[in-house]
Amino acid sequence: MTLIFALLLSLPLRAAGGPAPAMVFVSGDKEVLRLTAADMAKRPAARTIEVEDSFYKTRKRYKAVPLKDLLTAAYGGSWGENVLGEVFFDALDGYRSHARVSVLMNDGGMIAFADADAPGWQPTAKGIVPGPFYLVWTGPEQSPAKGYPWPWQVTGVKMTVLEDEYPKALPRGAAPDSAAVRGWTVFKRSCISCHSMSGAGGTLGPDLNEPRGITRYQKKSFLKPFIRKASSYRRTKMPDFDDLQPDDIDDLISYFKHMTNLAGTK
Ligand code: HEC
Repeated sequence: MTLIFALLLSLPLRAAGGPAPAMVFVSGDKEVLRLTAADMAKRPAARTIEVEDSFYKTRKRYKAVPLKDLLTAAYGGSWGENVLGEVFFDALDGYRSHARVSVLMNDGGMIAFADADAPGWQPTAKGIVPGPFYLVWTGPEQSPAKGYPWPWQVTGVKMTVLEDEYPKALPRGAAPDSAAVRGWTVFKRSCISCHSMSGAGGTLGPDLNEPRGITRYQKKSFLKPFIRKASSYRRTKMPDFDDLQPDDIDDLISYFKHMTNLAGTK
């Protein structure tokens, strides 16, 4: 086992004469960004950090850039709205780990592109070389045991896009500047992690379109105050949304109506 690992780990070293290893960001089937360690070193947010590294079982210093900075460069500033989305990390050895967008939204995630004290990376006690890219977390609580992913030898990053994953929840046919499309934006940010729309989405709350469209049996005069403050109606797992403006809720209701018409549900 150790031998196989050692063989696998020697591959990138042997390739040292070839092109510098890069971290490749993919969206759908498309490559959207490719960065080598030299590219990362040039980013303004690059810095030397110190972390408690549970693989080395000691404090380590790395040259690193914030993961959020890279995800924003690859996927645009609103990637965090992809609340049900997942990010996959592909490693050199073919291992694929993944993390929820909601976890990666936390500060503290850093992509290490060099060991600050050992050029060419220092192997761990188990002989693992974590480069070329290694996700580490600076917060003392942000350990693998607490659910923070620390994938090593990362060469590929892929974000699954909510629109691809939940085509049935899209307000097809609505104009881009319509209330229904604005409502969809609110729905995917605040609601889809718990509610599905026509079967697409989370399952903690009820589907809001099947078998009956929510606006067909609940009046707007109930929905508007309920969505803002469900806790004043019931003891419920649904959180309050005090920050939603009346316009946002009107948009949500337009989205619900649009989806009901699309599905032809009663
Ligand atoms: C953390 C999970 C969660 C989130 C997020 C959430 N809900 Fe809910 N919602 C629930 C649950 C659970 C129910 C069913 C129990 C209840 O009605 O209290 C529910 C019920 C509802 C109902 C049905 C009310 C009825 O009785 O007919 C509506 C409408 C609704 N939610 C809309 C929304 C909207 C719009 C959002 C986003 C702004 C949202 N919810 C976000 C969990 C959630």
